[in-house]
Amino acid sequence: MTAPLSCVHPARPSRSRRLAALLLGGLLGVLLLVWQPAPARAAAGEAPVDPATLARAVDQMEQLDRLRISLASTLEGSSEEPTLDTMRQVCRPVGQRAVAIGRENGWTVRQVASRYRNPDHAPAGAQETGVIDLFSRHPEVTGLWEPATADQGAGVNYYRRIDVQASCLACHGSRESRPAFVKERYADDRAFDFKPGDLRGMYAVFIPELQEALQQAG
Ligand code: HEC
Repeated sequence: MTAPLSCVHPARPSRSRRLAALLLGGLLGVLLLVWQPAPARAAAGEAPVDPATLARAVDQMEQLDRLRISLASTLEGSSEEPTLDTMRQVCRPVGQRAVAIGRENGWTVRQVASRYRNPDHAPAGAQETGVIDLFSRHPEVTGLWEPATADQGAGVNYYRRIDVQASCLACHGSRESRPAFVKERYADDRAFDFKPGDLRGMYAVFIPELQEALQQAG
């Protein structure tokens, strides 16, 4: 099997705990996962989470990202300033869908941004800050896996980048051009002055190992 338009995470010996680099296929959604288990697990022949679950997480985040892009594109060409109502039709449904995907699968699904609008979306720890930094330095990396942190317990994290499109600028463009409802409701807003192609943030999916075990038992 070949992977067109694939991107490979550059080798980073300093981060030897990284579980795997993800190769994301192109427009047709072809994807190829390269799984590099931790040495102990490789010896035991087990992966911490079923590869089918990993593939489902990738697929769900692709769908979530396409949802936002298609909702934002409905505003394109409109000369009206986005109101609370139109906002409800773009990033809020995406946030709700993220929570629903988590609930349906037993995962935790969040949006994370260092230049956030909603402070709930600030990076939660060193791993998230490190991955955002990596995505911003390596635009060719679409997504990657990390082992769960000590706080999370056993499991894996999947991160998927969120890029700025022209259609996002109606609400994430210059500071002055932000819609009135954004200026009013988000006092600590940092999510402006973006350009198309900039990194906007990332989706963060935590897949606990326990949930996997329960699912396989049941
Ligand atoms: C109609 C206005 C509007 C448009 C258009 C819009 N956003 Fe947002 N965006 C918002 C608002 C408002 C929030 C904060 C939502 C909340 O409170 O959770 C937000 C939040 C986000 C977040 C969550 C992280 C954070 O900063 O809180 C991401 C990621 C995001 N937007 C990306 C995008 C992308 C990518 C596009 C274009 C494809 C886009 N947005 C288009 C208004 C918009």
